[in-house]
Formats: sequence, C-alpha cells, structure tokens
Amino acid sequence: MKKASIAPSLLAADFGNLQRDVEMVNTSEATYHHIDVMDGVFVPNISYGMPVVKAIQKHATIPLDVHLMIVDPDRYLEEFANLGAHILTVHYEACTHLHRTIQAIKALGMKAGVALNPHTNVMLLEDIIQDVDLILIMSVNPGFGGQSFIENTYDKIKAAKELITRKNSSALIEVDGGVTTGNSQKLIDAGADVLVAGSFVFKSDDPTTTIKELKG
Ligand code: DX5
Ligand code: ZN
Repeated sequence: MKKASIAPSLLAADFGNLQRDVEMVNTSEATYHHIDVMDGVFVPNISYGMPVVKAIQKHATIPLDVHLMIVDPDRYLEEFANLGAHILTVHYEACTHLHRTIQAIKALGMKAGVALNPHTNVMLLEDIIQDVDLILIMSVNPGFGGQSFIENTYDKIKAAKELITRKNSSALIEVDGGVTTGNSQKLIDAGADVLVAGSFVFKSDDPTTTIKELKG
C-alpha cells in the first residue's frame, strides 16, 4: 500500500518552544516542515515572517515546504531561497503571471508549488502542469489552522491525478487543512502524496506517533 509523506504545519507549534517542536518533527517520520506565511491581505490572518522562518531553518534537519499565502509573492522569492526553502508554493489566486513566477522559483533552485483555494478548479492548471513540481489542494479556506475539512477535496485530488497522468507531469499532490487520521487514508487512496497536518499533530498527546499514523 502507498504511504504518504507528512508535512506537519508549524503554525500549530508552541512558538515559545519552537526549537523543541522543530526537533520533534526532525526526528519523527515526517518528510518536511510545512511553513505557513500569511500577510493579512491575501488571507485575513498574519502568521509569521522571515525572522521566524530563519529560526526554524536554523534547527531544521529535514526540508522546508514553504506555503506563501501572500499577495505579489514575486517580491520575496529570492529571500525564501536564501532562507533555505526546498519547496516554495504560491497561490494561483495571488499570481497574475503564474508561469513567470514558477520559472523564477525554479531558477532560484527551489521546487515550485501552486496552491488552489477550495473554489479554484484544478483544470486551470492544464497549461502549466508540466512546469509544476507540486499542486497544493487547500481542503479548508486558507488563513487559519483548526478548521474543518471540505469533503469536495477527494474529487479535486482525483481530478489533479487525472490531469498529472494525462499531461505526463511529475507533480506531487499535497493536501492542506483539516487533515486527521479520520480522513488520511481516504486522501491517500484518492491520490494524495503529501499530507499537511497542524492542529491534529501538535494538539495530540503523542505528536511523533500521530505523524507516523498519518502516513497510512
Ligand atoms: C491554513 C494553512 C494550513 C494550516 C493547517 O491556511 O495553510 O497549513 O496550518 O492546519 P490544520 O491542520 O490545523 O487544519
Ligand atoms: Zn499550509
């Protein structure tokens, strides 16, 4: 059976003990640290910025999966490359010239991800899917942790999988928001490669075991 890669979202970490929580993820079966950057404009919430990403990077021993929920992300691509981002994901809805943005991310040596809000159709990626390394399907409206999962996500994963296969793309499918062990296996079966989980991991009694269980 296929297993998923897990990307615990540090948005739900204890920021007073950030080093401890980063080290817990490092030594777990997680594949990435998921880092949510919000600007209070693209989404209603502000999360954290460069100094905190730098602090995470300092202690991280696994790759950084950076999810930008910001307008005009082109302004910061180089800074995130310098901060050690392995995957840099921008929102479809925030990019007027998405093709250019993706090429710029890759030219800086990072993997390029595109995130889709719940209302954004997967087929809008048809003309760009071969250039994309990762599709991030939002299974909640971006901006906050701890929201409930949107059921239409399974159909979106299947549509993304079909598009990737048809266009011979090697893009991974990542799902973000409301992921728990109650839906993880169904998400993996639908075609998800990477599962992001924030509150479910960090609010559990044993985060390391929870990460292992989410893999499927
Ligand atoms: C939401 C963020 C998520 C968030 C997920 O806008 O993109 O990564 O941290 O949190 P949970 O798993 O609590 O829904
Ligand atoms: Zn995220």
